[in-house]
Amino acid sequence: MKDSSEAYCLGIESTADDFGVGIVTLNGKILANASSDYVPEEGGIHPREAARHHAEVADTVLQEALTKAGIKPRDLTLIAFSQGPGLGPCLRTGATVARALAAYLNLPLVGVNHSIAHIEIGKLTTGAADPVTLYVSGGNTIVSAFDSGRYRVFGETLDIALGNCLDVFAREAGLKHKKGMPLGAALEKLAANGKQLIPMPYVVKGMDLSLSGLLTAATTLLRKGECKLEDLCYSLQEHAFSMVTEVTERALAHTEKREVLLTGGVAANKRLQSMLSTIAEEHGARFHVVPREFATDNGAMIAWTGVLAYKHGIVTPVEESFVKLRWRLDKVDVPWVK
Ligand code: ATP
Ligand code: FE2
Repeated sequence: MKDSSEAYCLGIESTADDFGVGIVTLNGKILANASSDYVPEEGGIHPREAARHHAEVADTVLQEALTKAGIKPRDLTLIAFSQGPGLGPCLRTGATVARALAAYLNLPLVGVNHSIAHIEIGKLTTGAADPVTLYVSGGNTIVSAFDSGRYRVFGETLDIALGNCLDVFAREAGLKHKKGMPLGAALEKLAANGKQLIPMPYVVKGMDLSLSGLLTAATTLLRKGECKLEDLCYSLQEHAFSMVTEVTERALAHTEKREVLLTGGVAANKRLQSMLSTIAEEHGARFHVVPREFATDNGAMIAWTGVLAYKHGIVTPVEESFVKLRWRLDKVDVPWVK
């Protein structure tokens, strides 16, 4: 048996617009994190177009990751892949590549829950041990914490996800998604110059929240053309971020955890980081934010979560490796978390 520093897991991420390949050692050293993102010419992600992109770039991204890690396919110990939740055609493309690699190299396969991977990469890269996690991305808005064998959901969006809310508004405002500058980041830049807080719907129901009314209100104001775009971006962010921060704070008070972790694509936002850091401080908890490279979808997070599962005897037989479009994180046992 090789020791963990020379045994490697290759992880494939393909839930949405990114095709990513990460390579990590079994003891958690990240050696490569290559990716290619599909940027639609117009509008949101078209699942089949994104899947076609993934199939086209798979070979190049795999090669890039192996070269960066300085290893050969034969050096690998296991293959992990994003099994869900996500867009069907995209997930299936990644799963097909993973199955082919595992079969060809005769290696075990591990299907990883994408949402859990966002949490685990946050813990690995920040050193957080047992946090309340706010996971905010294009498709998810979830406040969770570990309890009795699983990550439990303490609060979540009742309709659209935070990243999606920001992206739809940004697109309405004519902002463009460019490589290295996601729509949420373009909106953040404008919001930084906003001065006036425009009242908008603020909807927290129990531990859950709703963002669709806020998006409609902001979009309606935008179309009227009476407010400055900077002020609208600023107000949209302030309202949306306050809602997720309020729910996170309540989960923190309830669970009495000592750490807060911010993860997922929207974690790159400085204003959101600052709000969460304030509530963490008020509760005597440490605030951690996943580094930008690992905030958006990436292969390293899948590889690492695959390692955690594999070390606890979890593998996914090929006949059970079908993708799960709506796979909730609270349905997954996480025996590696204590
Ligand atoms: P998931 O399947 O986890 O929902 P996803 O496909 O949405 O993932 P992520 O890469 O985790 O992908 O998140 C992308 C989201 O992050 C987009 O909505 C994007 O606008 C948002 N985002 C990226 N940078 C920023 C930023 N600086 N401020 C706000 N939002 C950001
Ligand atoms: Fe994601």
